[in-house]
Amino acid sequence: MTKYKIAWLPGDGIGNDVMDAARTVLDVVDLDAEYIPGDVGWEFWRKEGNPLPERTLELLKNTDCCLFGAITSKPRDEARRELAPQLREKKFEYFSPIVKIRQEFKLHTNLRPCKAFEGNPLNYKDNIDLVVFRENTEGLYSGVEFHPLPKEVMSALLHHPKMHRFREVPLEDIALSCRIFTRQGCQKIVKQAFEYAEKKNKSNVTVIEKPNVLRETSGLMIREARKISEEYPNIELWETNVDAMCMWLIKNPHDYGILVTSNMFGDIISDLSAQLVGGLGFASSANIGDDYALFEPTHGSAPKYAGMYKVNPTAMLLATKLMIEYLGEEEIANRLEKAIAQVIKEGKVRTYDLGGNNTTLDVANEVAKKLKEM
Ligand code: NAI
Ligand code: MG
Repeated sequence: MTKYKIAWLPGDGIGNDVMDAARTVLDVVDLDAEYIPGDVGWEFWRKEGNPLPERTLELLKNTDCCLFGAITSKPRDEARRELAPQLREKKFEYFSPIVKIRQEFKLHTNLRPCKAFEGNPLNYKDNIDLVVFRENTEGLYSGVEFHPLPKEVMSALLHHPKMHRFREVPLEDIALSCRIFTRQGCQKIVKQAFEYAEKKNKSNVTVIEKPNVLRETSGLMIREARKISEEYPNIELWETNVDAMCMWLIKNPHDYGILVTSNMFGDIISDLSAQLVGGLGFASSANIGDDYALFEPTHGSAPKYAGMYKVNPTAMLLATKLMIEYLGEEEIANRLEKAIAQVIKEGKVRTYDLGGNNTTLDVANEVAKKLKEM
């Protein structure tokens, strides 16, 4: 029996290409792991009316963590049209498998490292080294939305004085999305950020919200962050507003290290941060819960490049590194990151996005070669 069981979910499009690259590299590090393939994505939506079949959920429940490629999603009507003819009459609704996995396995923390590797021609500035912690299950992504606004919701909301100016608006002309924060949700994400800062010897954590306007939700996050920061006397808590933070990240990205924020702001801040260090080809992410975790590149399935082995596997390889680190195999994780960094620095093997014409697997093989040389 192997020490680790890892669910292997390539998904669609270039998800397969980059997962092959991950496998090339995993085969040369001595991780005592078994990789168990699972079905997910568009093909299973079309054939079964379910992009995340029950057997795949079972697989996840029986593994230590999951490595994930990418999936294709399409708007509702288009999704329905592509269903197998015998399924079209049934009431299948397309849903995002990745969002469902995050909710089902309570993967409350989304961690996105954004590091400017030396020699990456796409770096905005050198020496950027940010890690974004984004709350992954609550906030504006809670899914509690209304349009039109139900009568009972309106009458409950009319207890709030600020609601009165909307009282004459017809219910069908009001759309409402709820930004739901829980104390526990705020505590978990902030705690993860501080734990990480401590482990990596960082001197500060920046909490990014907008408490001057969103007094209750952002306010709760800030208040919990202040309390938690008291447990870490060596780490300073910095507080910034999300709009100002977007400017600071462009102006002085070196001033920051560990960033922590809620779901929607985290979505925005992490894309901004990723672009500072080369964009989609370099952006990896970890989805971490108390009992399970899933690792993925942040890019999608890029259908136009599917199966061409053209895209940059670095984001996927960095996600693989995060997975190895999560499993507690720090030494292997560090070695892998060093090998990736060396390949980027030498710049001899590059995919199209970096101005090269090497394939996805050329890059993976070069990283594997460096690992063998170490
Ligand atoms: P995308 O990330 O798939 O691709 C956008 C463009 O970015 C590509 O055409 C390509 O030029 C570039 N790109 C992406 N990954 C790259 C890589 N590793 N190396 C070099 N260049 C890269 O986003 P798009 O086109 O908006 O979505 C395509 C499909 O992917 C959609 O069905 C979308 O729903 C899905 N998607 C899935 C995600 C996931 O599985 N977590 C995340 C984002 C989108
Ligand atoms: Mg995003």
